[in-house]
Amino acid sequence: MSNDSIFKTFLVAFLLCVVCSVLVCLAAIVRIDKEAYNKQLEIRKTVLAAGGYQQQIDDGGNIDELFTANMELKLVDLATGEYTTAVDAATYNQREAVENAELSVKVPAELDAAAIGTRAKYAAIYVDKSGTTILPVRGAGMWGPMYAYISIAADTTTVKGLTFYQHAETPGLGAEIDNPNWKKQWPEKQIFNASGKLALKVVKKGKYNAGASDAINTIDGLAGATVTGDKVHAIIKYWFGEHGFGPFLAKLKAERG
Ligand SMILES: Cc1cc2nc3c(=O)[nH]c(=O)nc-3n(C[C@H](O)[C@H](O)[C@H](O)COP(=O)(O)O)c2cc1C
Repeated sequence: MSNDSIFKTFLVAFLLCVVCSVLVCLAAIVRIDKEAYNKQLEIRKTVLAAGGYQQQIDDGGNIDELFTANMELKLVDLATGEYTTAVDAATYNQREAVENAELSVKVPAELDAAAIGTRAKYAAIYVDKSGTTILPVRGAGMWGPMYAYISIAADTTTVKGLTFYQHAETPGLGAEIDNPNWKKQWPEKQIFNASGKLALKVVKKGKYNAGASDAINTIDGLAGATVTGDKVHAIIKYWFGEHGFGPFLAKLKAERG
């Protein structure tokens, strides 16, 4: 066939299009895979950080290895507080479940301190070898939704850490929730008081009194960002209440004695 033939010109152009399309598709697939992997890595890092593994991360520990060696994924039915196998934990996506009518419930307005509207029926939590439980929490921030993991020691009432992994708060103000100096207040705080009532709270910056009897339940707020501090408090109120992890923690406490 002559190189000047119209058919050959179209054939070459067509083949070139096919090759380019395949290359573009492959590049997109690789990018999506990489994005999904990076997202998963970020979540794993957050869970590990909340669970008290920040030092190992800072020391250059491999996130995937640390995670698989230490963390076990479990699903909790928030209504009963029991572990559930109603859905496959390995493929369950709690954030997507919120959008699925069968996998979510409306939050009664009078209980919706965190202003989330709807929550997933099942929570994907992590438990590490020491019995530390790492719980996903979320709620409205000043500028958008905030997502975090909070970890509770094996005694089911002592906080080990709180780490936000997504929010839209203002750098220097509300975004100081990510500041290690603010975060270091959380470990050792008690969620419940001596009579078992939810007592953990965030107060306005400067109102924290180390000598007060409730200091063990109190977090000092953020300078110039009382609104965000209040939002964090609201998240605590909802997720440790009767519509959040309250039933689960009560069961865990009864089990562990
Ligand atoms: C542009 C802008 C962004 C702000 N971002 C935040 C924020 O992310 N979180 C917050 O609590 N307050 C933020 N504020 C301040 C709040 O409006 C409010 O003044 C503050 O939360 C009150 O805290 P204070 O009583 O400690 O001063 C912002 C204010 C402005 C003007």
